Amino acid sequence: MKKVYFETYGCQMNKYDSELVAGILGQEGYLLTDKVEDSDLILINTCSVREHAEKRVFGRLDALRQLKKKNQDLVIGVMGCMAARLKDGITESRPFVNFVVSPDNYRSIPQLLQKIEQDGSDSHFTLAEFNEYEDYGELFPSHTRGVNAWVAIMRGCNNFCSYCIVPYVRGRERSRKLINVVSEVERLAQQNYKEITLLGQNVNSYHDGENDFADLILRVADVEGIERVRFATSHPKDLSDKLIEAIAAHPKICNHIHLPVQAGSDKILKAMNRRYTREHYLRLAEKARAKIDGLGLYTDIIVGFPGETDEDFQDTVDLLKEIEFDGAFIFKYSPREGTKAARLQETVSEKEKVDRLKYLNEVQDEISLKKNMRLVGKIETVLAEGPSKKAKPNQYMGRTEANKIVVFDSKTPVSNQMLDVRIIDVKGHTLFGELVGS
Ligand code: SAH
Ligand code: SF4
Ligand code: F3S
Repeated sequence: MKKVYFETYGCQMNKYDSELVAGILGQEGYLLTDKVEDSDLILINTCSVREHAEKRVFGRLDALRQLKKKNQDLVIGVMGCMAARLKDGITESRPFVNFVVSPDNYRSIPQLLQKIEQDGSDSHFTLAEFNEYEDYGELFPSHTRGVNAWVAIMRGCNNFCSYCIVPYVRGRERSRKLINVVSEVERLAQQNYKEITLLGQNVNSYHDGENDFADLILRVADVEGIERVRFATSHPKDLSDKLIEAIAAHPKICNHIHLPVQAGSDKILKAMNRRYTREHYLRLAEKARAKIDGLGLYTDIIVGFPGETDEDFQDTVDLLKEIEFDGAFIFKYSPREGTKAARLQETVSEKEKVDRLKYLNEVQDEISLKKNMRLVGKIETVLAEGPSKKAKPNQYMGRTEANKIVVFDSKTPVSNQMLDVRIIDVKGHTLFGELVGS
């Protein structure tokens, strides 16, 4: 039996895709291993969203080359968004890489492996065409991680935010048929998964010809055995009232929305081609909060976009303070070749980007802490995941419906169970609780 080792960078879509390819290779008799030295095949699933993500992968590839010196038959493949962006460029600079395969070509990996077996482990191949009809609709990935299973409901993106490489590497948006998504979720429920996260770059534009996203999520939430449904990501221009109503009404749809705002200044939002205004976002957040009890609202921010002045940045700071997000993922702008924004002159120095990032994180940390303190004394239901990261004996962790991490003691091991905990303390982003009844 051959063994495959995966190393996955980037977003949840990539993590899902690694499981998809693990499913395809499983059909070919491959076993998964988490020990790179033991593997016959190494697959690096890559991300192009920021320059840093690509640099890390090249560093990692150069380190893996050593393993090839020890094992002549070892095969190394690069998949994911860098494969789509750089194509042969990867094998030109790293000839020890045997194949490069972009996100629309994963079904061809078994044939590529056969070719390499025939031609020898010095050979290399690239498959990087787009295929707008490929949605892997009927395939079942081999889900392996944790208590939450991700399920892709669509692929690609049509939004072309001016800074973003995703539409160029993942191609046009396409939705998977509702029936295929539901079959996958039913199968996961049979495997005892209780929590599902529906994935897409912009789930609110899901449409399979008959059903929109609200229709889909309601169907998924009704699958027997599923206790919680989450989804990511939502674009503020497309978050519908129908969906807000569905979240508010259905107990199994989590009170949790990831709604990237990116910037607080209308000038910058326009330059980013986000197609909404600060005012629209503020009203949307207000509406969602009013309708959905205990909503956990999370966002993404980019600092240092070309043309971002001190005033524009202050608009973002003010927006964060006004909305009081439960959490924010903040990134330094990184120009990506081929995008519209890459043609703009950069005006914010690296030092200024670092300072803005640091300051905004401080502002958000304070807000998160303040909001989490309000939960002290409340009872929350968590889906227990297992031992807490710090792994003190008897210490376990789980997530609340609003996606906050709670650490609690339990005399018996707990995993994949819904438990009630009373929140008793907060440290930074982590809540501490005690099991109700213990
Ligand atoms: N489709 C999702 C997320 C895509 S990438 C969405 O639209 O929300 C995840 C995050 O990376 C984005 O929300 C954005 O904040 C950040 N990002 C994307 N391109 C970037 C770039 N060129 N530089 C810095 N951050 C970027
Ligand atoms: Fe990128 Fe914008 Fe598409 Fe998100 S919606 S993937 S930020 S282009
Ligand atoms: Fe990165 Fe591709 Fe996701 S560029 S963020 S792995 S869609």
